[in-house]
Amino acid sequence: MSNPIVITVDGTAASGKGTLAKRLAHHFGFAHLDSGSLYRLTALAVIEAGGNPASASDAERGAHAIDLSMANDPKIRTAEMGQAASLVAAVPAVRAALLNFQREFLAHPPGESPGAVMDGRDIGTVICPMATAKLFVDAKPEVRAHRRWLELESLDQGGDEAHILAELKARDLADKSRPISPLKPAPDVFLLDTSDLDIDAAFAAALALVKPKIEGALKALPQG
Ligand code: CDP
Repeated sequence: MSNPIVITVDGTAASGKGTLAKRLAHHFGFAHLDSGSLYRLTALAVIEAGGNPASASDAERGAHAIDLSMANDPKIRTAEMGQAASLVAAVPAVRAALLNFQREFLAHPPGESPGAVMDGRDIGTVICPMATAKLFVDAKPEVRAHRRWLELESLDQGGDEAHILAELKARDLADKSRPISPLKPAPDVFLLDTSDLDIDAAFAAALALVKPKIEGALKALPQG
């Protein structure tokens, strides 16, 4: 496939971007990649090797040792792994090591799919600036902390919501202020605030934003 269709979904932690990306992929029959899982897997590789996620050399080694078969393991979904992922993600050599995998996924979506949806922090700005449609998802910190608490609770790791809120704010700040690939909306992005939207309403809003571009691109694909 020469020019696959790409939807990028960037945004803050627990904004709902992962669920939206999955649902958009399902709707259009596209492949989906949660790029955050690559940084979480890097953090896991570092920790399991007894390394320190704040060490650039340990982090780089971790990025070269990720085990993609662990991408759906609840182990990488813990709050601890989210923090460690944010640390390794600020290391330029880690981002360089993960870049090709992400670009390759978008250039050749698995399953001969005509397109791909990728969620993360820098997908519309760095990984795929020429994407067909870009979303930037955000919500009020208190709303996101509650959603993350519910998510962790379902993994029996609930904990204190005020602590989760503080952790999310610290991670947002780190992600937005790092020198490499900071979290920021691309200039040509559709902004979506999901503070007052449940997941069905957020999906309907996201779909309404990207649909004209995606349907246009699907129509322009060579037939057969
Ligand atoms: O699910 P949540 O939004 O909490 O986090 P995630 O998407 O799994 O990402 C975990 C961490 O990885 C983020 O805080 C970022 O520091 C980093 N990340 C990144 O730098 N670039 C990406 N494309 C995706 C994640």
